[in-house]
Amino acid sequence: MSRLSAARATTRPAPPATTDPGPHGGSWDVAVPPPARHGGDGARVAAALGLDPADVLDLSASVNPLAPDVAVVAARHLRSLRCYPDPAAAGDALAEAIGVDRSRLLLTNGGAEAIALVAAEIGGHVDEPEFALHPRGGAPRWRSNPHNPTGLLAPAGEHAAVWDEAFYPLATGTWTRGDPDAVVVGSLTKLLACPGLRLGYVLADPDLVDRVRRRQPGWSVSGLAAAALPELLATADLPGWSAGIAELRAELTALLHAHGLEPLASDANFVLCRRAAGLRSRLIPHGVVVRDCATFGLPDHARVAVPDATGLDRLRIALERSAAPETAVPGTAPLRRSVLATATRSGDQPAITTGPGTPPGSRPGRHEP
Ligand SMILES: Cc1ncc(COP(=O)(O)O)c(C=O)c1O
Repeated sequence: MSRLSAARATTRPAPPATTDPGPHGGSWDVAVPPPARHGGDGARVAAALGLDPADVLDLSASVNPLAPDVAVVAARHLRSLRCYPDPAAAGDALAEAIGVDRSRLLLTNGGAEAIALVAAEIGGHVDEPEFALHPRGGAPRWRSNPHNPTGLLAPAGEHAAVWDEAFYPLATGTWTRGDPDAVVVGSLTKLLACPGLRLGYVLADPDLVDRVRRRQPGWSVSGLAAAALPELLATADLPGWSAGIAELRAELTALLHAHGLEPLASDANFVLCRRAAGLRSRLIPHGVVVRDCATFGLPDHARVAVPDATGLDRLRIALERSAAPETAVPGTAPLRRSVLATATRSGDQPAITTGPGTPPGSRPGRHEP
């Protein structure tokens, strides 16, 4: 069994490959919510379409398509809800998994809290486009690695004071780039496919970790997240997941190309696509949500998460049907025939820069830790 087949065998249940047109036969107008600022708006779109969120393929949030179902693991730890949280054991387990001294690690309520705590302590700036939650306006340079939204890893010679490694393990199969003097903000949301659990971390020298810890509100990491983390980490297969995602990404890229889109090279579990104006509105009636990139300043781009094999089939069907609705056969109609497109986008395509020496579409060498 290949690593990908093995990984596929453990993946969580996927939504159905075809979607029911709904009780009214897909004949009424629905105002689809405008794109969320950070993507991850599959549940909102599902509510607008009158669907169960599990029936929407949400490719606007880039989570590991090969991770086991977090709900199944979390269900084994519900007793933790009766007590106040104690994240000590979870922090120990994460430090051991990453292979760092415990004093260098702070567990946080998602990558978002890690970013907010470090930004409050040392400030920072970014080179646009960059993830919206990073600070804009201080001295130290921040950079997501791989970069959001392009998906490119930073070349070995590139420097940043703060690396956001939310997608690093899925891109490289290793935990961290390991620059000795850099601060790392991490997110377990992507790696473990657990956006609702809220788990992230700061990795830095012990002095900065202490300062940042003093800023963290008490009980910030929930008892359920802390209780489930050791078991979630025990399932983690960074090299297998990263290799499986690389195979799936190649399939996704070929599929997008075949449909006239221009996917750019990516090292991550998502692909940035040019010539994708209107793609989100086009796919939503077919129950698929991608990340519109207007909020990155890239109005005709979309970011598409790498789905599992079932998700790829479903995306293929959605692209085919949305390209030629007149050829749809009975029972294959879009979820809604008319969707009020909410965001009309136009304008020139801005250049994407990802730092010196990494023009869009180029592929820097992987940086091993
Ligand atoms: C680069 C990057 N860093 C951090 C985060 C935040 O992660 P979390 O959901 O764990 O707060 C995201 C979420 O999309 C992200 O794209």
